[in-house]
Amino acid sequence: MFFDTILEAPPDPIFGLNHAFAVDGRQKKVNLAVGIYKDEQLRTPLMSAVRKAGEQLAEQDVGVDYLPIDGFPPFCQSLGSLVFGDANWKQHHGRIAAVQAVGGTSALRIAGQFLVQEVTETLSLPHPTWANHQQIFVQSGLCVKQYSYCQNAREGVDFSGLLAFVRQIEKRSAFVLHAVCHNPTGLDLSMEQWKELGSLMTEKEILPFFDFAYHGFGEGLEKDRAVLEYFLETGCEMIVAYSCSKNFSLYNQRVGGLFIAAKDPAVKTRLQSQLSRIIRALYSNPPAYGARLVHHILTHPPLFLEWREELERMHGRLKRLRESFVSALTSEGADWNFLLRQKGMFAFLDLEKQEVSRLIEEFAIYLPDRGRIALAALSEQNIDYVTDAILSL
Ligand code: LMR
Repeated sequence: MFFDTILEAPPDPIFGLNHAFAVDGRQKKVNLAVGIYKDEQLRTPLMSAVRKAGEQLAEQDVGVDYLPIDGFPPFCQSLGSLVFGDANWKQHHGRIAAVQAVGGTSALRIAGQFLVQEVTETLSLPHPTWANHQQIFVQSGLCVKQYSYCQNAREGVDFSGLLAFVRQIEKRSAFVLHAVCHNPTGLDLSMEQWKELGSLMTEKEILPFFDFAYHGFGEGLEKDRAVLEYFLETGCEMIVAYSCSKNFSLYNQRVGGLFIAAKDPAVKTRLQSQLSRIIRALYSNPPAYGARLVHHILTHPPLFLEWREELERMHGRLKRLRESFVSALTSEGADWNFLLRQKGMFAFLDLEKQEVSRLIEEFAIYLPDRGRIALAALSEQNIDYVTDAILSL
């Protein structure tokens, strides 16, 4: 017998909560677990630019052939302009390998394997970080270390701990950073801090690896990519894993990209070939439809404008939700203003393990470790119930 001794894997710390929520028979229950944008009716929106792009593509014969291994080439170009900004992409694309990926997750996974094969066996992750990071990189074969990013949400980013870690880490290892809207804390570095960190990383020969999954949800499209533009302008080598799940609301189309910037343009073709080799063995080549939608929007100015405005409205609604949530929590006198310094889709309450368990067990309010709340899942119907439960802890 081959399989008898196999143990059951633990549930996923985020998606596993969806299942637990679905089978919870209590009438009053709230699912605040997964980072998905919802509208006022708690529906995941089909963005109007995405719908129109779909209608326009339906009139074209886009074919059903395989895409190239590294994806739909025009998509990699238009996405590159979005990620790094038009001017930077024009200036630097000659040294940046770019491949389409199956959402941000596969971009991280491809990069993980690329690092092991070609660059380093060591990668550092922030603590805390997105619950899937650790296993993505461990399964890639990397030796994963952790640096302190935030010890206490009320105190903000542990920048001195972060710098101390970089000073002692081995040369030529990779270092994961969230480009914007750090998941789960929502706490980002200031531009001064990025600059200080960037020069220390260059001095210590550490490779920056940006996870960029919330573009547009921090301070808008331009400001959110400012850190990448800065690193690019300094001539830095870097990796960027990008997700279109949230900002195009294309969660189940799995659209993303991976960018690796070399110093020397001569290296680009070699990088591209190694990425293709990894992809060919992992899933052969990516699906076409979502990438065609995104490319169509990015290259048709009226659609781009419409998409951008809708994204800004989504971003604005999240900000308002954060403010209402904080004022509802604060009405009893406790100070929750630290949540206003956070950005993006989540409010990171920084709760104790037993407090999170109580919210799930006593109140049927589902949320991941340390109390990360998906703000868009709050509504007029549930906000009082959620805040009362939190205040009763
Ligand atoms: C999250 O953090 O909730 C999202 O990034 C969704 C996911 O895949 O975990």
